[in-house]
Amino acid sequence: MADSRAIGIFDSGLGGLTVAKEIIKRLPDENIVYFGDTGRVPYGTRSRETIQKYAAQDESFLLKKDVKLIIAACGTVSSVAADSSGNLPVPFFEMVTHAAAAAVAVTKNKKIGVIGTSATVASGSHKKEILRLMPDADVTAAACSLFVPLVEEGWYASDDIVVTQTVKRYLEPIVKAQCDTLILGCTHYPVLIKAISAVLGDKVSLINPGVAVAEAVAYYLGKYGMSNSGNAEPTHSFFVSDKPASFKNQASVLLGEEIDDSKVEQVDLSSL
Ligand code: DGL
Repeated sequence: MADSRAIGIFDSGLGGLTVAKEIIKRLPDENIVYFGDTGRVPYGTRSRETIQKYAAQDESFLLKKDVKLIIAACGTVSSVAADSSGNLPVPFFEMVTHAAAAAVAVTKNKKIGVIGTSATVASGSHKKEILRLMPDADVTAAACSLFVPLVEEGWYASDDIVVTQTVKRYLEPIVKAQCDTLILGCTHYPVLIKAISAVLGDKVSLINPGVAVAEAVAYYLGKYGMSNSGNAEPTHSFFVSDKPASFKNQASVLLGEEIDDSKVEQVDLSSL
């Protein structure tokens, strides 16, 4: 039996649209509800308690929309608040587990790099999961705090000197550790994939967690008979917690699609 309920995706802001992009590509028949907490972004510099509280409110909003599963697209939420999502009434997917599994599957020299926000790197979440899967792996993590503002400023071209120099500087520890695989552990980083690749060279495999999660979700929906039938044109709905201004520009970069600001609804989470 088809399950036409939407897949719920949330993020601290609009970065999670890079994950929505991979879900839409892999599961084109599915309805999507996206929530970006644009009124409270960034999460990456906040305390664990605050991130957990915000994530719980984001999840409550998606549950009100009757979603069939929830994806925490945010690398920070996935790293520091995923434990508290264990009791949700719908299946929950985060970005760490499947990215770690993908990295372990492709590394040859067992030297794996992870980049993310300060909160993500401080949590050690990827390292823990990689070592669970591959106890003799050597994991090097680096917080790349300027990557999110760079992408949001529209500076991500691989021939832009500011971009390449910034990427080069942040990735020094990854290069030094001779990692042959790098997890892009933050929503915005797939936008920098060309610039990162230009710095690391094509021998380093870059893991986009959105791709790994899309594959896992596709498998799950198939296994439990929860896929949508594809009879009706799927709907993609977008909600934010601040004014939707500039959604269109950000969406064209992060989602690869222009969504008019008028199609985006502002919601108030304070009562949740
Ligand atoms: N979405 C966040 C992440 O993936 C990046 C932006 C933020 O710090 O909230 O970690």
